[in-house]
Amino acid sequence: MTAQRIDGKALADQVLSECRARADALATRGTRPGLAVVLVGDNPASRAYVRNKVRACGAVGVHSEVIELPASASQAEVVEVVRRLNVDPSIHGILVQLPLPAGLDEPAILAEVMAAKDVDGFHALNRGDLFSGHTRFPPCTPAGMMRMLDSIDVPLRGREAVVIGRSNTVGKPMALLLLGRDATVTVCTSKTVDLAAHTRRADVLVVAVGRPGLVTGDMVKPGAIVLDVGINRTDDGRLVGDVDFASVEPVAGYLTPVPGGVGPMTVAMLVVNTIAAAGG
Ligand code: GUN
Repeated sequence: MTAQRIDGKALADQVLSECRARADALATRGTRPGLAVVLVGDNPASRAYVRNKVRACGAVGVHSEVIELPASASQAEVVEVVRRLNVDPSIHGILVQLPLPAGLDEPAILAEVMAAKDVDGFHALNRGDLFSGHTRFPPCTPAGMMRMLDSIDVPLRGREAVVIGRSNTVGKPMALLLLGRDATVTVCTSKTVDLAAHTRRADVLVVAVGRPGLVTGDMVKPGAIVLDVGINRTDDGRLVGDVDFASVEPVAGYLTPVPGGVGPMTVAMLVVNTIAAAGG
């Protein structure tokens, strides 16, 4: 068996063309959806992600602006920018790109983003809604993976789902979204004793740790759906995920590539959330 690739780029293009239609419909009613991205410091990966977000907005007729602050920006300066965006009527979605430079209080800054404009779904109110099983703004990366699962039309109810990684941005919200579909969810971390014993039971395996080669073919149940969230740069400059593609591809039923897998879906779901925030 060779795993079928879930083409995140093609699926993201499909989602974005739906966004285009919704943005056009909003425009005829006099609203142009607007996204503001707050980028603090000069983390090159963050800069690249923000570029992709801005490009996707432009492609579907969503206004976007990037507010750049130096790594030396104070807590008060970042908060002031967020508060200004909260009351800017041309801005419907606000995203504070993470990670923030050391010294800034991330939870306090995320708490400043008005919940109705929190297109990342990182505000405590939206996280609480997600916990209760109904959220207006599901976090973009997990929401993108749910779209990928829906695109292959496999039942999740009662199936074993294993999530490796317990981050607030990916692992924890993904576990909640899978639970919401009645999957049987196990959350592992990079420190889980006998990780393979868990992963081998998984019908759906989500890997979000940031360690290349963490999951190898012998750890995967034949036919499993494997979603790779890792984005790691090798010494020779290639981008690879957390899954050892060569050994997993012959075992899994479905597999997401890196690049061109989960990453483009994160961007597409941000646009979906921005249009929703604008009333579309
Ligand atoms: N950094 C890595 N992923 C994300 C994300 O989904 N949103 C934000 N704001 N920052 C990130």
